Amino acid sequence: MENILITGGAGFIGSHVVRLLVEKYADTNFINLDDLTYAGNLANLDDVAHKPNYRFVKADICDYTRMQQIFAEYHVTGVIHLAAESHVDRSITDPFIFARTNVLGTLTLLQAAKEYWKDDMQGKRFYHVSTDEVYGSLDHGGFFTETTPYDPKSPYSASKAGSDHFVRAFHNTYKLPVVVSNCSNNYGPYQFPEKLIPLFINNIRHNKPLPVYGKGENVRDWLYVEDHARAIDLIFHKGKIGETYNIGGFNEWKNIDLIRLLIRVADRLLGREEGASEKLITYITDRAGHDLRYAIDATKLHRELGWKPSLQFEEGLEKTIQWYLNNQTWMDNVTSGDYQKYYTNMYANR
Ligand code: NAD
Ligand code: DAU
Repeated sequence: MENILITGGAGFIGSHVVRLLVEKYADTNFINLDDLTYAGNLANLDDVAHKPNYRFVKADICDYTRMQQIFAEYHVTGVIHLAAESHVDRSITDPFIFARTNVLGTLTLLQAAKEYWKDDMQGKRFYHVSTDEVYGSLDHGGFFTETTPYDPKSPYSASKAGSDHFVRAFHNTYKLPVVVSNCSNNYGPYQFPEKLIPLFINNIRHNKPLPVYGKGENVRDWLYVEDHARAIDLIFHKGKIGETYNIGGFNEWKNIDLIRLLIRVADRLLGREEGASEKLITYITDRAGHDLRYAIDATKLHRELGWKPSLQFEEGLEKTIQWYLNNQTWMDNVTSGDYQKYYTNMYANR
């Protein structure tokens, strides 16, 4: 029996990964390890929480003794590591927590895996989920490939780059069976409304200002979160040990163009005149050190493992906006903060 530890499974991408894998592999046990920070929300997993192959454990990935206990108690055979501090703006105001969680937390998990598996690494796998931001910022041409040199520019991306280096160092030094992926911007249901798309949907709904950083000319490459989860499933099961795979949507949007599209679709779904909410656009001081452009070349993943995005952006965006409009209670709960107390008490260490 396989026992797969998924860290950060109560977060945005992690919850989609948990849902996909728990439903797809009924004969594998999945242990969702999450410390339920502000970004972790067990309501994201209400629909799979009752499944017999799912367990939740509340724990901090920086707690080495606890990680050792968890590996032993659940006989962990594989790790999919998503737990992280993930928001660039927060990393600018508090870089220390990013170094702690992303660098020390990843190192703690690596050490626990290495020690628990040291006598038999056969069939084991440590999958580290990372970001395209480790490659830095592009001008208007070119793409990030798996061989692009690292050049992180924000405290967030520096901490993710540090964690990626530790993962590869454990493969080189201790032969830990690792695989790494670096993905572009995700969007979809259950994303915490500090990130551009859910924040703007919520503000449009409530007729609140839409804070556009700088001139809105920065470019991001957007991927629907379920397509990322499918890529993670494929790479975890079929990716080659020691390899890195870039994941992206081949879907670049200048922020202001994306925002205008988002406004049109949201206005239509809200029964408003299309474009009426453009008046909410408010240009504000740019993010410090704001990366101009990210763009992923995902050819390797397509060529070697046959993955490609399934959704056109316009279709995925409409689906996403509709989800947030239909799930106002979820949005109200995560913005009120009450949800954490409630779910922590209800499910902790069940
Ligand atoms: P998120 O912020 O929504 O979720 C992070 C989760 O990690 C939360 O559930 C949180 O409670 C948990 N966590 C934080 N610190 C922890 C700790 N010390 N111990 C245990 N759990 C802890 O993040 P996300 O957007 O879902 O991103 C998941 C991963 O994917 C991250 O590693 C991120 O760097 C990476 N990534 C994200 C994107 C994106 O667009 N969101 C793109 C590429 C890669
Ligand atoms: O590229 C992958 C990364 O994408 C992930 O590793 C990160 O975890 C994830 O947060 C995301 O980082 P970004 O900084 O690109 O995402 P964010 O949603 O914060 O911002 C998207 C763009 O929109 C960026 O250029 C900044 C801009 N922005 C963002 C916010 C929150 C605004 O103009 N206004 C805003 O209020």
